[in-house]
Amino acid sequence: MTLTVLFCGDPLRPRLVDRHFAREAGAVRDHYGEIALIDHDALVRGDATAAVRAVPRDLGPAWYRGWMLTGDAYAALAEALRGRGTTLLTHPDDYRRAHELPGWHDTFAGITPASVWRPLSPGGDVGDLTDLVRPLRPGPAVVKDYVKSRKHEWEAACFVPEVKDAAALRAVVAEMVALQDEFLAGGVVVREFEEFDGAGESRVWWVDGEPVLVGPHPDSPGVEPEPDLMDVAPAVRALGCRFITTDLAQRRDGAWRVVEVGDGQVSDLPETVDPMDLYAHLPVPE
Ligand SMILES: Nc1ncnc2c1ncn2[C@@H]1O[C@H](COP(=O)(O)OP(=O)(O)O)[C@@H](O)[C@H]1O
Ligand SMILES: [Mg+2]
Repeated sequence: MTLTVLFCGDPLRPRLVDRHFAREAGAVRDHYGEIALIDHDALVRGDATAAVRAVPRDLGPAWYRGWMLTGDAYAALAEALRGRGTTLLTHPDDYRRAHELPGWHDTFAGITPASVWRPLSPGGDVGDLTDLVRPLRPGPAVVKDYVKSRKHEWEAACFVPEVKDAAALRAVVAEMVALQDEFLAGGVVVREFEEFDGAGESRVWWVDGEPVLVGPHPDSPGVEPEPDLMDVAPAVRALGCRFITTDLAQRRDGAWRVVEVGDGQVSDLPETVDPMDLYAHLPVPE
């Protein structure tokens, strides 16, 4: 069978691949793969049926490559595709487990900063976080939602100098929640801060438990660290998802730490990477 990938279409020119993914779609086509288009805007609107209208019927098993989707939106996409005879090769449960921190955190315990979390709806009241952060050691912390941080608003909405300072913690979390607004994913995460070397992260792409591409992180596309994957590989295999990424940073003491895990279908591929270095490793269904 051929490799089939569903890309997001361009919102203004719906018959074309979204410019952000055009290079990748070109690589799939160049190697005799098939592509089809998803209407991401329709999916976000909650209209999964409209989102898959351009997908040919009975296309068969396929990967998605596009913008991040909430766990619910991905499940709706999978359901709508099933109705047209297409199965997504990553199951919605696996998508959510890799995409949201509470899904992968415990599997990576010991190689990722210790974290606590609590569900919260967009615009919800943060409340008192004293009990929540009790398991964390005193000292600095990092705040995010289940998927994304406000790292560009580091002081106001991401970094907490002392996690046991209840008022300061609450202020930073409240600012993160306010800035995420309707896009707040899942709830609030608080993580112990660790001193990284500042050299830039490595994004490792895993397919069926194997590291198929060790590349730069999109925030530092020119940096090519060579992380030690000895402790990461067993955790990736234990998570049991077919296609994920791990972002790794080296701590000042030399240890390689998992900053975050992501679903490989929605992790950004830096422009400095040849897409074929990834797509050549995506399994084609039997
Ligand atoms: N526990 C931590 N200790 C130190 N720095 C962190 C920690 N968590 C995140 N960071 C820093 O903040 C950045 C953003 O955090 P990350 O979890 O990757 O969120 P995002 O999904 O927004 O990229 C990371 O790239 C890293 O530089
Ligand atoms: Mg990150």
